[in-house]
Amino acid sequence: MISKKMEGLVKGSSVIRAMFEEGKQMAAKYGAENVFDFSLGNPNVAAPAEVNEAIMDIVKNTDSVKLHGYMSNVGHDEVRETIAQSLNKKYGTSYGKENIIMTVGAAGGLNVALKAILNPGDEVIAFAPYFGEYNNYVSNFDGKVVVVSPDTETFQPNIAEFEQKITNKTTCVIINSPNNPTGVIYSEDTLKKVGEILEKKQKEFGTVIYLITDEPYRELAYDGAIVPWVPKYYRNTIVGYSYSKSLSLPGERIGYLVIPHEADDFGNLVAAAGVATRILGFVNAPSIMQLVIGKCIDAATDISYYDRNRNTLYEGLIKLGFTCQKPEGAFYLFMKSPIEDEKEFANMAKTYTILLVPGSTFMCPGFVRIAYCVSYETVVNSLPKFAQLAEELGVKRDGSF
Ligand SMILES: Cc1ncc(COP(=O)(O)O)c(C=O)c1O
Repeated sequence: MISKKMEGLVKGSSVIRAMFEEGKQMAAKYGAENVFDFSLGNPNVAAPAEVNEAIMDIVKNTDSVKLHGYMSNVGHDEVRETIAQSLNKKYGTSYGKENIIMTVGAAGGLNVALKAILNPGDEVIAFAPYFGEYNNYVSNFDGKVVVVSPDTETFQPNIAEFEQKITNKTTCVIINSPNNPTGVIYSEDTLKKVGEILEKKQKEFGTVIYLITDEPYRELAYDGAIVPWVPKYYRNTIVGYSYSKSLSLPGERIGYLVIPHEADDFGNLVAAAGVATRILGFVNAPSIMQLVIGKCIDAATDISYYDRNRNTLYEGLIKLGFTCQKPEGAFYLFMKSPIEDEKEFANMAKTYTILLVPGSTFMCPGFVRIAYCVSYETVVNSLPKFAQLAEELGVKRDGSF
């Protein structure tokens, strides 16, 4: 018998993953070129060549114990130091290896951070729309997610509602920018306000509230947009980073947490994160991938590829009369459903072999997410299908298409 908790989780298993499987079945039936699978955030751009070269070089030239053995739960010292120095160069900080904990991707990092700080019944605030897995991660440690409703005009956090929802049980707030699913980058102004409110509420309740900033898309920002460094705006920030998207390595499971010196209870927090890494069963992040990151600290993916998809998709959809905001980062576009029930809309899209993820998966019904980390041909060839869908729904074009 599986546990009661898992029974519920198996039943409500990931909509996105289910669509990914459905997409594979549809590709087998209709031919991959005739299926427009925008469901999963699985990068289509190849990992940089230097990453693959580094893997081979490291495997060939590293002592076996160093390469394959256990190391400290928080990761290889020199890799953590390299990451710290790279952050210092970019953000003018003064981190050292003691601030960096290597993790099994962003998902592993979030679970480690939540394990370190949550007591049962603690409240975790998240701003809709957000990555639905946060609900599961928080539930892993018997916390409770408190959702701040979306501002569907700007998709910046709804600050007034946020302030009202903080209680003496709020242990942490999770943000994600560039955002999945909207592609919005949280502005400096937003982050300043979030930081000020959290400082005020900590004083009011005599509590510590951590701000976890989940940043797997930090490097994916377009048109020169700046992604602000969140710890600048709030002392009790924990940064979660991942190379899944920025280096196209989602299957390799590698990322890190940053815990700044100025965070409350710094020493215990770092110790707890190390122990959490061990007892959650990760033990440590994959050794070879840590060494690869140490060697490829300045490697970058080719974001011009996503940028071309972004422009073509956005302009195409707008011309067809759909409503959406132009994404500033990540590789998602969040489009308003032309009919009230976005699940029904996603089902209609499926009849044109277009796979879209309903916004309710991100606690934001009425919208659908389009993951454009696909081939350019997929984007271009999907537009006539979107046109047919628009036609069926009577979506009014702006006349310029
Ligand atoms: C917002 C967000 N956080 C975390 C993750 C998990 O990323 P990782 O593969 O690094 O665990 C994802 C993956 O899509 C994501 O979109």
